[in-house]
Amino acid sequence: MGPEVEKCASFYVAYLRYLATLYQTRHWESHGIELYAQHLLFERLYNSASEDLDQAAEKMVGMLGSGVVNLTTQVGLVKSIDGKDLEEIETEKYFGKFLKHFLKILGPEVDLGVDDLIRTHASNSESRVYLMKNG
Ligand SMILES: [Fe+2]
Repeated sequence: MGPEVEKCASFYVAYLRYLATLYQTRHWESHGIELYAQHLLFERLYNSASEDLDQAAEKMVGMLGSGVVNLTTQVGLVKSIDGKDLEEIETEKYFGKFLKHFLKILGPEVDLGVDDLIRTHASNSESRVYLMKNG
C-alpha cells in the first residue's frame, strides 16, 4: 500500500483522537446543575468517539504497522485538526467527508473488514451529529 494510504490511516486515527479529546473537554467544561444535560451528552459523544478510536487504531496497526499511531506524528496531526477551528458539528461533517476520501484512496480491493469499519465509523459520526442537534 502506498504512502497516501499510510497518511490517511494516520489521519483517521488522529481525527478520532481529536474528537474524543474534544468531547471529553466539553464534558468537563459543562459543569453545574444547569449544564448537566450537556455534561451527559458530551460523555456519550466522548464514549462513542473513543470506542471508534480504539477500533480504528488497532485495525490500522494490523494493516500497516505501529508507525501509523506514532505519538509525535499524531500530536502534530491533532494540532492541525484543532487549528481548523470548526464547531463540533462541522468537525464531524469534515470527518465524514474524510472517511469517504479514505475509502476512495483504499480502492475496491480493500479488505471487507476495513471497509466495514470505516463505514460504521461514518455512521457513528452521523449519529453524533444527530445527538448534538437533538440531544
Ligand atoms: Fe466524567
